Amino acid sequence: MANLFESQLLGGTVPLKNRIVMPPMTRTRTSEGELPTDGDIPNGMMATYYGQRAGAGLIISEVNDVDQSSHGYARIPGIHSEAQMRGWRLVTDEVHRRGGTMFMQLWHVGRLAHSSILPHGQAPVGVTAERAEGSEVFAHGPDGRLRFMPVETPRPLSTDEVSAMVDTFAKAAANARKVGFDGVELHAANGYLIEQFMNSVLNTRTDRYGGSMDNRTRFLMDIVDAVVAEFGPGRVGVRLSPFGKYGSMPADPLVEDTFLYVVEQLGRRGVAYIHLLYELLPEGNMETGVFKPRYLDHALLAKARALFPGAFIWCGGFNDRARAQDALDTGLVDLIAFGRPYIANPDLVERLKNGWPLAVADRSAYYTRNGEVGYTDFPTYRSVTLDAAAS
Ligand code: PHB
Repeated sequence: MANLFESQLLGGTVPLKNRIVMPPMTRTRTSEGELPTDGDIPNGMMATYYGQRAGAGLIISEVNDVDQSSHGYARIPGIHSEAQMRGWRLVTDEVHRRGGTMFMQLWHVGRLAHSSILPHGQAPVGVTAERAEGSEVFAHGPDGRLRFMPVETPRPLSTDEVSAMVDTFAKAAANARKVGFDGVELHAANGYLIEQFMNSVLNTRTDRYGGSMDNRTRFLMDIVDAVVAEFGPGRVGVRLSPFGKYGSMPADPLVEDTFLYVVEQLGRRGVAYIHLLYELLPEGNMETGVFKPRYLDHALLAKARALFPGAFIWCGGFNDRARAQDALDTGLVDLIAFGRPYIANPDLVERLKNGWPLAVADRSAYYTRNGEVGYTDFPTYRSVTLDAAAS
């Protein structure tokens, strides 16, 4: 069985120094762009934050907008403008200087959006005109202040617009490659645009992107093909959350069939890994939502494993070495993602390896613009113990 601290060659081409993944986490520390078309931009402080965490086998960036119509939450970065590309270059340089490996996560939010932060106040776009009743995003309220707002009714994308969106993802991946990312992860989970297409209840389209299994998964597969062509095989991951209800996703009677079909297709297309999210949120928002762990059935995972030659990442609620190693020992997965523990423990790998205690971050600093506070100001365990011993 794999050991948590053992290396792995991801996708047959990307060497990872251990099995520990820092998964995507929105932290809202971007800077405002000068031009409205710049979007929110990464900065030197973000380079420091990610660089501090370069001990992870794999860092997956916080999520990124592929274009302006994808801006579902205020202060989320993107990879569609020159300013954003310059900002991300600072991050990848710092992570690489410190010996890390980093993929960029890409999304389009689809219907989980609000006109107050979209260009020209336009409506969100979606697979259909069905609103995500009960979901909220971080946008401007009627008084102009940022707060969690109910999402608005989307405008369905035309068939041509869906095809064009595939090119938008390809362009975003090309931009990520240009600024030094080692690969990209497509966010096909949590009720965002790609998952909106895959859900057989929500996707009532009658064009080639709706109806049959092939049609519902076509958007994802077209994007995968385009992005693999940009990066080469072995450098693209896909995040999935089958059975997830986040984003007001309706229960889908075909979920299991769709999941297994997608897994098998992704394997054929040279995808390096599948990132399974199995801690889910009920309706609501990231700040108030109660996290409810839910575990994918092991028999289903075993079937998925048999269909996919790449790696599986498990994410959701891991916060100690024993549970992570137990998960690897099932033989069902290859890599373990530690989300919240990475906020307060930049040296997480060392702490887990040495049995050192983990620091706990104050939740109030998860999503703020307080700069360094609760972001880059967490010390390593070594520096704290050495400082204490020296004084
Ligand atoms: C998600 O992956 O569900 C997600 C990503 C970024 C956010 C909120 C939710 O800001």
